[in-house]
Amino acid sequence: MKRVRIAVLPVAGLGTRVLPVGKTTAKNLLNVVDRPILSYIVAEGRAAGIEHFVFIVGRGQSAIEDYFDYHPELEALLQAKGKTEILQDLQNELARPGEMSFVRQMQPLGLGHAVWCAREVVGDEPFAVMLPDMLMDAKVPALVQAMQAYDKVGGNLVVVEPCPQGQAHKYGIVALDGHEGRLNRMTGMVEKPPPGTEPSNLFISGRYILQPEIFEVLASQDRGAGGEIQLTDAMVRLMQTQAFHAYEYDGVTYDCGDKIGLLRANVAFALQRPDLAPAARNAITELLG
Ligand code: UTP
Repeated sequence: MKRVRIAVLPVAGLGTRVLPVGKTTAKNLLNVVDRPILSYIVAEGRAAGIEHFVFIVGRGQSAIEDYFDYHPELEALLQAKGKTEILQDLQNELARPGEMSFVRQMQPLGLGHAVWCAREVVGDEPFAVMLPDMLMDAKVPALVQAMQAYDKVGGNLVVVEPCPQGQAHKYGIVALDGHEGRLNRMTGMVEKPPPGTEPSNLFISGRYILQPEIFEVLASQDRGAGGEIQLTDAMVRLMQTQAFHAYEYDGVTYDCGDKIGLLRANVAFALQRPDLAPAARNAITELLG
């Protein structure tokens, strides 16, 4: 089985749920505590052994590339002032040489189209897709858990988690061939099922491991829901010839593409930071007054 070395990070969506800020700031550069959401996603990928990140970017998102690059003036200033701790923190955020590619999705035609834009960079090997709005808080990073499950079954794998009661109609939901333990073979997937028709309570939470044949399917994929080329539709087609498993990971997902999801992530992550937790707790208590 070929090792998964490459992760595709589609960030070219228009981010309408976080307007107006999303107009000029890529939503994945919005901060959770003191670093952009993307910083956590890259750290998760590195922990899982990802060697190359392919960002699918849109217009006005060059700040993403800058974030992972040197800032010589700033670094010289921190050095001169002896601020070595923050300097070290900045250096850990840098891309390693050759670790990142940036591919322009010239029109936001949907997640499936964004993934398809990575085909020439990924080539003929299995790869991960990490949806950068989905910040996953887990003791063992979510993609590490997914890789461990993938090592057992190969094929295609979708990370899932239980959705809140009565909320399945908002998500992509998987259908399983029997539900036992965390790793189960899938029989289908449905985007936003009408209430009461959902085949399970497990939603697709933003990490996938896919085989390269998905690119051929995406090449001929028609537009689906919302007039967009949907990754889910292409996965359903690929399922006719390849195995798909759902892996229920151990952790909590924050949808940072949503205002309240981003707020929750900020509160949760601040409360986990030893250097900030006491002050964060005081501030929250005071505000709740
Ligand atoms: P979303 O549907 O959550 O993102 O897509 P969006 O379209 O930016 O957000 P809203 O709903 O308008 O607020 C999931 C992921 O796929 C990317 C998005 O950037 C996001 O990370 N995406 C989506 C693309 O890269 N290109 C697209 O054409 C669509």
